[in-house]
Amino acid sequence: MTASAVEWKHRPSAKIAGAPPDWYGAGLDHVWLPYAQMRTARPPLPVERTHGCRIVLSDGRELIDGIASWWTACHGYNHPHIRDAVERQLVLMPHVMFGGLAHAPALTLARRLAALLPGDLDRVFFSESGSVAVEIAMKMAVQFWLNRGIAGRSRFVAFKGGYHGDTTGAMAVCDPQSGMHALFAGLLPAHFIVDLPREEESAAALERLLDRHAGEIAGILVEPLVQGAGGMRFHDAAVLRALRAAADRHDLLLIFDEIFTGFGRTGSLFACEAAAVVPDIVTLSKALTGGTLPLAATVATTRVFEAFWSEDPARALMHGPTYMGNALACAAANASLDLFAQEPRLQQIAAISAALAHGLAPCRGMRGVKDVRVQGAIGAVELDRIADLEGMRARFVEEGVFIRPFGATVYLTPAFTISPDELATLTSAVVKVVGEC
Ligand SMILES: Cc1ncc(COP(=O)(O)O)c(C=O)c1O
Repeated sequence: MTASAVEWKHRPSAKIAGAPPDWYGAGLDHVWLPYAQMRTARPPLPVERTHGCRIVLSDGRELIDGIASWWTACHGYNHPHIRDAVERQLVLMPHVMFGGLAHAPALTLARRLAALLPGDLDRVFFSESGSVAVEIAMKMAVQFWLNRGIAGRSRFVAFKGGYHGDTTGAMAVCDPQSGMHALFAGLLPAHFIVDLPREEESAAALERLLDRHAGEIAGILVEPLVQGAGGMRFHDAAVLRALRAAADRHDLLLIFDEIFTGFGRTGSLFACEAAAVVPDIVTLSKALTGGTLPLAATVATTRVFEAFWSEDPARALMHGPTYMGNALACAAANASLDLFAQEPRLQQIAAISAALAHGLAPCRGMRGVKDVRVQGAIGAVELDRIADLEGMRARFVEEGVFIRPFGATVYLTPAFTISPDELATLTSAVVKVVGEC
């Protein structure tokens, strides 16, 4: 047993009743956890199963989930329609390579995504994670110009407070501070990370930058309406319209990273719809499979796709992840889209929005609370600072909820199927725990 295992066993942690299950003690010393200082992080909670909006721990306790597993499980966990679709697909064919082979789940999904997205966002490139979808969007944008005989456009404009993933290309377009990647500045290419053009001054600064550097820039990349992992910061649709206009003026591609905002989270199926802006490329993941399996998509307009359409093999997009278009994941995504079509998700999101606004309102004016904001099924309480993040997370567990604040923000992004009572429990827990700060 290594030092870490001994220390972890003695840490005031998850407070599990009785002994943890065998797999927990035996395996914990062999995993490396996300975004965690392994020496000081509290050990994770052992989970036995999930159902609806509940996470069931090994000691039988049920936590109401306020996060929906990093915003993926939009229909709640274990939705029978998705489960049935995955089970049927598992019997038929879990996976075949996408090179040289095609199958119904992927082609059906591509057709359905193209029909749901606005404008002529018609060409879908599948991958297996959000970060990779962003990398692909960036490659598409750079090669778009090269294929049209225009060299030198390999940089991007992205925004402070933004987050686009943890792989190298995606890291380079995150906010250098809140994007968690400041250490790697030496590894990453230098892009232009600027203020969102929310008002005149930042709009003028962006315009000056584009005037000077448009010839070096492939595209503008933005999380539309909400910068999620960067702190649940919201901006108006007018910002997105300004970005579309700037991209058009300077002949740049506009890329919307809808990995967080896509599939209803901000109140419409896609944030680009609410803004009435059609980007040139959009990235999707997270809730694409309803939180069941990893899958992502980079979707391009006809204009972008046509720059690759050629007799010349050198103009092809040279990308092809091994699990691209995985049949199980695509079956789950098709089933998730069925649920959006068959069940009143957008009404549920509107009701959640109202309940979040009402339930979180008491936080306004509390000591240390900077802002309380709600957009769609996202509720955020921003504090001046959270002194003991791990301690606050543990307090939420004591209250019977799973809520994981980051930075100085406590947020809720529940499943759209959450009941009013469950949601009220979540907001009451936030009010109580924030009130203790
Ligand atoms: C807007 C956005 N883009 C990209 C990513 C990266 O996705 P993944 O973690 O699947 O690589 C995330 C993840 O939080 C995200 O919120």
